[in-house]
Amino acid sequence: MPLTENTTLAVLLHRNVRGLRPSATLAINERSNALRRQGRDIYKLGLGQSPFPVPPTVVEALKANAHQKDYLPVKGLPELREAVAGYHRRIHGIEREGEDVLIGPGSKELIFLLQLVFEAALALPSPSWVTYAPQAEILGKPFYWLPTSAEEAWRLQPETLDRLGRQHPGTSFFILLNYPCNPTGQTYSPDQLQALAEVARRYGMVMLSDEIYGELDHEAAHISMASFYPEGAIVTAGLSKWCGAGGWRLGTALFPPSLHHLLDATAAVASETFTAVSAPIQYAAVRAFEGGPAIDRYLHQSRRILRALGRHCARRLQEAGATVDLPEGAFYLFPDLTPLAESLRGRGITSSEDLCERLLEDTGVAMLPGTAFGRAPEEFTVRLAYVNFDGEQALAAASETPDALPLSQDFLKAHCGRTVEAIERMCAWLHGS
Ligand SMILES: Cc1ncc(COP(=O)(O)O)c(C=O)c1O
Repeated sequence: MPLTENTTLAVLLHRNVRGLRPSATLAINERSNALRRQGRDIYKLGLGQSPFPVPPTVVEALKANAHQKDYLPVKGLPELREAVAGYHRRIHGIEREGEDVLIGPGSKELIFLLQLVFEAALALPSPSWVTYAPQAEILGKPFYWLPTSAEEAWRLQPETLDRLGRQHPGTSFFILLNYPCNPTGQTYSPDQLQALAEVARRYGMVMLSDEIYGELDHEAAHISMASFYPEGAIVTAGLSKWCGAGGWRLGTALFPPSLHHLLDATAAVASETFTAVSAPIQYAAVRAFEGGPAIDRYLHQSRRILRALGRHCARRLQEAGATVDLPEGAFYLFPDLTPLAESLRGRGITSSEDLCERLLEDTGVAMLPGTAFGRAPEEFTVRLAYVNFDGEQALAAASETPDALPLSQDFLKAHCGRTVEAIERMCAWLHGS
């Protein structure tokens, strides 16, 4: 029968994507925008996007390369692959070459393709970033949540990894570790990384170390997992967070020579899907990864602002009764409001989703429930991204404030006012007003 405009097609969704909804972070952003259109004053602490502009020198490089129009090699522009390897050598002391690097349209896509090409079960700490588990679901892959606790700042413990290895002998594992961590803002010390690497090595587990926030370690002290597990860690990173360029869609993956077959297989899938990242963006990214004094100053001020603001927000939430650690990197907090459970239940709130819904309704503060990160529905955890301020203005003001002085509360009120205000609203609401 010929198809006409009125023919109803019986279109079945693939079983792996039935019930799949847009990522929780994007959904809260759309919901916040819809409420704003209705005239509500919304504090957007839902979406984790860098508040800072792309450094001017990198923007200039993009302008200068607007004419680049050819398809680039699937694995990435050779100069960029060299620049990324050079960056990892310079910043992390990891001996890698351009041939160890793969460029993709965001590290999210690279992580997805890696999950696709590697015949292994995924294991990830709970809480973890919203995307890893749905990616495994889309691919129909098994995945295991590894428990962590608020008392241990939600960090994966070596004993937990060891238990996984012992309980599943003969299973190949892809262990996802992300630090500084989205959603917790915590990082790992060298000893902790060393201990995790030893367990992974014992069981032949491959680590996918998502270090997209590495440059946003608040003390500039990030150390790559590849330093501890050089033969078994793939490190993903990119421009999105430290360079304020999420919308540019450029991610990187750094492979050890022992895992080049995974790099080649990922590139083969890339060649049949996205082909290559946009040429002007790749040329401009060379400038970003080469670094230099202007980028160092930009990063220094970015970290300084995030550190002061993150600590301020965490302290205020602690005073309001939440269990939350002072952040060490990135721009997230993951407060646990279990100490206030009785009062929350008294207000008819029984899950983290209720909690976020009511907070948004009553105060206009948008954040994400712990469930989006793999936590149990009845646990009162939420993730907030303390980035709803004008980063360009804050950077300019911070560079006028002598380095010897910490950024004061007055600075935060003046330049990150919307975030400070959102936290005050949340604290007042927790106290029942
Ligand atoms: C932990 C984590 N990994 C990866 C990404 C993806 O970054 P990209 O923009 O490189 O795809 C994000 C973005 O929010 C993230 O939070």
